[in-house]
Amino acid sequence: MDSSLIRTVNKLQDAFSTVGVHNPVDLPQIAVIGSQSSGKSSVLENIVGRDFLPRGTGIVTRRPLILQLINRPGTSKPAEGSEDPSAHGNDHENPDEWGEFLHLPGQKFHNFEKIREEIIKDTELKTGKNLGISPQPINLRIYSPNVLTLTLVDLPGMTQVPVGDQPKDIERQIRDMILKYITKPNAIILAVTSANTDLANSSGLKLAREVDPEGLRTIGVLTKIDLMDEGTDVIDILAGRVIPLKLGYVPVVNRGQRDIERKKSIFKALDSEREYFENHASYRSKAMYCGTPFLARKLNTILMLHIRNTLPEIKAKIQATLVKYQQELLQLGDPSEENNAGLVLNIITEFCTEFRTILDGNSNDLSSFEL
Ligand code: GDP
Ligand code: NA
Ligand code: MG
Repeated sequence: MDSSLIRTVNKLQDAFSTVGVHNPVDLPQIAVIGSQSSGKSSVLENIVGRDFLPRGTGIVTRRPLILQLINRPGTSKPAEGSEDPSAHGNDHENPDEWGEFLHLPGQKFHNFEKIREEIIKDTELKTGKNLGISPQPINLRIYSPNVLTLTLVDLPGMTQVPVGDQPKDIERQIRDMILKYITKPNAIILAVTSANTDLANSSGLKLAREVDPEGLRTIGVLTKIDLMDEGTDVIDILAGRVIPLKLGYVPVVNRGQRDIERKKSIFKALDSEREYFENHASYRSKAMYCGTPFLARKLNTILMLHIRNTLPEIKAKIQATLVKYQQELLQLGDPSEENNAGLVLNIITEFCTEFRTILDGNSNDLSSFEL
């Protein structure tokens, strides 16, 4: 996630805690959907910037993973010249960054490899080893100074033919599971489709369309651009000439199966992704609209717009709280506290104005891919 957004939202949070108000900015949940092995877990990991999800061929994600990112200011000094924790790979343990599972309260996982192992272990515990699925979610919280307080959901991929212990009606079961998360009007849908398949057959886009027919909260993510046949590209899709989406499409290159086996780091993967788009004849001139960093920025802008739209409501709530607070203090006859309340209201008001200015400078990021 973009660090400027993290700082802005933190400032907002600080302003709220000054007034003793719990952060009322309820950021949208981001749900990742698409066919099995289209690259959903890979996209999610790249957005978070850490390796911790089971990934691979076949059905790997067999239960929903509700991933709550929680921003928590760090206490230790960050490494010199590096704001990107993924640069250190999974071997690097940061005392300020850890995961905690709802089913293992109080147990802190500083080693992200162990988080992955626990996801696999608990998946098998509830669904067996033979490819079964379950709607019972795994709840994981990640505390870090480098994330935005936000919820992401990794979901099993859509599939038609049951294998192993999967029920006969697996298609419907997975569909129902996904619908539960994407129907909420507050959800942002990342509809992932591999670029080496036909967009018209994209099960992710089809399902997204059912709950978001106008495509107002769906972002198309095109993975496996690197696996497309030579001489083909996704330019027509990006230009909105195939299935248009208001929020557009972002092409990405994630780590392939071989990269996973060789434990290629996210940091290196993002580097190769950038090189790929910058050197490809079809994408070279629009490389800034391609790749995971652009996808993350797009998500940031959407979140910012969401916050902006929520601000008037938040301000009204705070104002009401303060009025009530002032009246209580007046009755107690403590005029100094009364002045404090007014001061705090000024802080919030100033913040809101400042925030709108930051936002207006950012909103052109949202303009769709133009050729
Ligand atoms: P999911 O089932 O949708 O969660 O997909 P995964 O993230 O587990 O990825 C499935 C397989 O596709 C893995 O072997 C990944 O390495 C591979 N994969 C995902 N995205 C890409 C990509 O952009 N390029 C290449 N070459 N492989 C990818
Ligand atoms: Na998979
Ligand atoms: Mg997956």
